[in-house]
Amino acid sequence: NEELAKTVDTNDEWIRERTGITQRHIAAEGELTSHLATEAAQKALEKAGIAAEQVDLIIVATSTPDETFPATAVKVQHALGVKQGAAFDLNAVCSGFLYGLSVAETFIASGKAKTVVVIGAETFTRILDWTDRGTCILFGDGAGALVLQAETGTDRGILHTEIRSDGEFAPILRTQAGVSMTQTAGFVQMEGKEVFRHAATKMADSVELVARECGFTTADIRWLVPHQANQRILQATAKRLNIDDERVIMTVDKHANTSAASIPLALSIAADDGRIKAGDLVATPALGAGLTWGSCLIRW
Ligand code: UT7
Repeated sequence: NEELAKTVDTNDEWIRERTGITQRHIAAEGELTSHLATEAAQKALEKAGIAAEQVDLIIVATSTPDETFPATAVKVQHALGVKQGAAFDLNAVCSGFLYGLSVAETFIASGKAKTVVVIGAETFTRILDWTDRGTCILFGDGAGALVLQAETGTDRGILHTEIRSDGEFAPILRTQAGVSMTQTAGFVQMEGKEVFRHAATKMADSVELVARECGFTTADIRWLVPHQANQRILQATAKRLNIDDERVIMTVDKHANTSAASIPLALSIAADDGRIKAGDLVATPALGAGLTWGSCLIRW
């Protein structure tokens, strides 16, 4: 935060108080979304004890791909040494990982795929306007991944996903540029207060919905792992759901808003430090540009 205060009219105190963010990571020069994605996927596969030969689908959720085409996912597929199956990118911005889980669930449930790697990876700092203090302090780069596999005789895994979008709200969070419009990628532009207003209500409603669909109440949820946008949004979401802050995984302080990477980063931090344990009921709501939103309910 202090480094940013040197170049834009902001300060550590404001950023901490209004967002909870203390630091963010910026990819090195030449370090691309596919590099971050590959490393995350490699670690996830290693932890799961699953070989490249078993993977039959790779989904990279990103809105900051290496190139316009080919998809970042095929570069990851090659880097992982995966020769079979398919790989594609998915763009639902900050809800991208959630959308990825929903697609993976559908592929697995239909029998079209057995082992799916869902990756959220972003180099969001490449599309920031570093003179706009309303956005540049919020975002960071990162990647995280989950390996999902078809398994019978277990109650673990994805129980239900709910994804939504409403293009009416596209103007409140956008880049106002793109390949087709301007032949450039553009920079993040956001009506922060408007996005904030939608975030807590829509995320909370979607958690209630996925819980209800599975015959649970929000009291049954052990961990709420929301998209890490702003600590105040996370707290407001939890409050609406009557979930104590102790049951909310908040890692936004460590990596800022990494868009599609934030949920897998938060899951990985909390699983590694032993908070999330096998059998825990976990809800992962998200909201992002589009607007896109929804939630996933997982038996970890
Ligand atoms: O991932 C999904 C997409 N993003 C989000 O979910 C983000 C949603 N929005 C937010 O997190 C918040 O709206 C922000 C963090 C972006 C802004 O917080 P806020 O509490 O809504 O602040 P504000 O925009 O109402 O600004 C309050 C004041 C303003 O000054 P005045 O008009 O009161 O004099 C701003 O100009 O704070 C000022 N301000 C800043 N001051 C210091 C805005 N940005 C900064 C800054 N440093 N970086």
